[in-house]
Amino acid sequence: MRIAIFGASGSVGRYLVPAALDRGHEVVAVTRRAARIGDHRQGLRVVEAQLDDAAAMDRALLGVDAVIVSLGDAVVDSGTDAVLAAMQRTGVPRIEVLTGFGTSAASRRKLPPPMRAVVAAVRAVTFQGFVAKERQDDAVRRSDLLFTIVQPPTLTDGPRSGSYRSGDYSGKSIFGSISRGDLADFMLDNLDHDRFVNESTFVQS
Ligand SMILES: NC(=O)c1ccc[n+]([C@@H]2O[C@H](COP(=O)([O-])OP(=O)(O)OC[C@H]3O[C@@H](n4cnc5c(N)ncnc54)[C@H](OP(=O)(O)O)[C@@H]3O)[C@@H](O)[C@H]2O)c1
Repeated sequence: MRIAIFGASGSVGRYLVPAALDRGHEVVAVTRRAARIGDHRQGLRVVEAQLDDAAAMDRALLGVDAVIVSLGDAVVDSGTDAVLAAMQRTGVPRIEVLTGFGTSAASRRKLPPPMRAVVAAVRAVTFQGFVAKERQDDAVRRSDLLFTIVQPPTLTDGPRSGSYRSGDYSGKSIFGSISRGDLADFMLDNLDHDRFVNESTFVQS
């Protein structure tokens, strides 16, 4: 598969890129500055594109089968809008988006009431960032693309252990965590095995 990764130079992207290459995928690492991508292995193409440069975005998505969005907080909603528009123009069918724990009404309904109350409190305190992620979630759901929305709690640096839970398991908690290595493994598994299509999913260790 050819996978374009937006946010490839970021704290999660740095795990996603080598993990995707290890699986034999071609990776298009999209960044504002190519120098930010350190890993120049076979199978990797680095494309410089500003999110608001439609022509550069379309060039980045040439021949791409699936897109991963792991953009930083400042551009989760506007950046994802730009990615969705470019996917529509270029006919890329599949998107996977990394967001935060409980950042949609639909996912919050899947939480037990005490955890729902905790998330409501976090939402009130971190209002702007939370609402940006809700807008991102909404735009992805309203697109006619095949989507997966991944909602981890706190991320830690660390390699893949392969030991994590996903979906609607009972122990999900905003106080949980998952390593970026496991998160990358999970997100790539979802693309490889067509899992959680048109769903959002929790994931944590
Ligand atoms: N940290 C946690 O515990 C945690 C927990 C759950 C979810 N998340 C979510 O995971 C997602 C990815 O996190 P991350 O730490 O990997 O992100 P990040 O490192 O902050 O940013 C990822 C990339 O986004 C691009 N970017 C950032 N600001 C930009 C801007 N103003 N304009 C254009 N591009 C910009 C940059 O790419 P270039 O410079 O290469 O263009 C950057 O490397 C976020 O949505 C975050 O909220 C984090």
